[in-house]
Amino acid sequence: MCGIVGYIGNAQCFPILIKGLHRLEYRGYDSAGVAILNDNNQLNIYKSRGKVEDLEHFCESKDVEGTIGIAHTRWATHGEPNDVNAHPHCSSHGDLALVHNGTIENYNVLKKALIEHGCEFKSETDTEVLVQLIEYIKENNKCTLIEAVTEALEQVVGAYAIAVIDRNTPDTIIAARKSSPLVIGIGDDATYLASDATPIIDYTDKVVYLNDDEIAIIKKGEPLQVINADKEPSNIDIKTLKLSVSQLEKGGYPHFMLKEIYEQVMTLEDCIRGRVYNNSIVLSGVNENSEAFKSAHRIIIVACGTSWHAGLIGKRLIQDIARVPVEVEYASEFRYSNPVITPNDIVIAISQSGETADTLAAISLAKEKGAFVYGVCNVVGSSIARATDSGTYIHVGPEIGVASTKAFTGQVTVLAMLALAIGQLRGTVSTDTLVRTTSAIEMLPALIKETLKLDKDIEKLSRTYTYVHNFLYLGRGYNFPSALEGALKLKEISYIHAEGYPAAEMKHGPIALIDHELPTVVIAPMDDLHDKIISNIRQVKARGGSVIAIVNKGDKTIKSIADFTLEIPAVPECLSPIIASIPLQLLAYHIAVKKGCNVDMPRNLAKSVTVE
Ligand code: G6P
Repeated sequence: MCGIVGYIGNAQCFPILIKGLHRLEYRGYDSAGVAILNDNNQLNIYKSRGKVEDLEHFCESKDVEGTIGIAHTRWATHGEPNDVNAHPHCSSHGDLALVHNGTIENYNVLKKALIEHGCEFKSETDTEVLVQLIEYIKENNKCTLIEAVTEALEQVVGAYAIAVIDRNTPDTIIAARKSSPLVIGIGDDATYLASDATPIIDYTDKVVYLNDDEIAIIKKGEPLQVINADKEPSNIDIKTLKLSVSQLEKGGYPHFMLKEIYEQVMTLEDCIRGRVYNNSIVLSGVNENSEAFKSAHRIIIVACGTSWHAGLIGKRLIQDIARVPVEVEYASEFRYSNPVITPNDIVIAISQSGETADTLAAISLAKEKGAFVYGVCNVVGSSIARATDSGTYIHVGPEIGVASTKAFTGQVTVLAMLALAIGQLRGTVSTDTLVRTTSAIEMLPALIKETLKLDKDIEKLSRTYTYVHNFLYLGRGYNFPSALEGALKLKEISYIHAEGYPAAEMKHGPIALIDHELPTVVIAPMDDLHDKIISNIRQVKARGGSVIAIVNKGDKTIKSIADFTLEIPAVPECLSPIIASIPLQLLAYHIAVKKGCNVDMPRNLAKSVTVE
């Protein structure tokens, strides 16, 4: 979490830094700050608790002149979100300013040693330790900034993407990364840096993704230099971005989340394009590694949050269609579970951002143990996309709303295609299933468009539930993960407590909660377990609970029992979570809006979780 931005060139940097921070606000919005070096060699640092717009107000009457600067938007880890703990942090003698994304694990030990040497600390952050350490080394060893940064980073244990400026070398920014992302944009007469490419795209499409343990020396008017852990020059691989500014704007919608819900018609088209061909699936990542997929004894899916829910659906898909045993693990648990992994295993890492720290750590562990690692990511060029052996992008474009919507449907669609592609290779998928499922995949964008017509009804329905404190979500089979995801969407953005449960398990506990104050959302498309879920609905109704049921068109039975029904088009069971997720997303969205919540930036959350 946390977002960092930097600029060095001939233009005034303040507006560029602020615009960049707005783009990165999805990474954290506890506080924001800028450090600017002006032509008189003055280092001005302004910081403010709260969002980037609070920082903008704070800076209205300040001197923000200068053409070199760094900036930060924070998701608090060490120290509460206040002005003092906000970045940039400044060294004791006031010469250096530093922004940081990540966590310095040994900061306490380093801090103690620095205090013994006379350093005075202002904040409770781990970051301040780093800037003090760099200054201490620089003064003590009488060395250059780059030498001091290199040595400081050798002493640090943890994860970081940093940018440092120094009053004594006003034409330079030093940036470095280990386990937290950093992208450098190469303009004609300016260089940009940021946690992802979104703050850069307005100015240049030429970028360099810094690798772990690399340090960049960015000098005004000079070509970029990058050195690796051995202090040798690294090869500079300039990539061209395929991102447009319009993808980063709300396009007339009141919130990014609503825009992203509606975009699913188009994003699924992009996700499917070129991959369904003549009733078969063509995934280059699978074809290029056909031996690994043919011979795999087991697949382990690792992910976090919504991506983990997509993974649960992926497990059903791959087991049903490709007949390979699949396990699904929270990446954060997997990495510390001493897992049994063999070279015959395939590990699939699912991640929208491609930067989730736990998922990255799970990947390194799997690679160490010899597994073939396949990525299902959205952000092109992200750390996970680069750390995996191969993979399939979901291609749904930038997702900015903190609650994941279009990435979830993209992930499930890719997992369905992946299951079919593996099934084709292993000969486990019948022609009938292949024809039926690929045809349905091609129909998904149109079916989502139809499902979005429920929006008005859901908006009306949401008025009934604005003041409810708890919700239960039930589903079975492929739609048990839909229940988990529906509950997660509601709790993340409306702060209403919601629990997802397998419908049949309800009688082993949650049924005790049911009364007229607890609404239950039941995902009940016409599938093999339809009769069973009807009994579950009756059990809720018999105890005075109200039921909102998501059903297939024409389901008269459930319509006659449930309080409200939301009708979605029928698709093969294995694809039903994709369609069912639309009303679940809209319900959470409208309830949160009615409650006056900030749906795009819910409290305490961040979109990209680059810390443990
Ligand atoms: C955060 C986000 C979620 C996301 C999860 C995993 O919690 O708010 O939307 O599902 O991280 O992120 P990833 O980028 O790895 O999918």
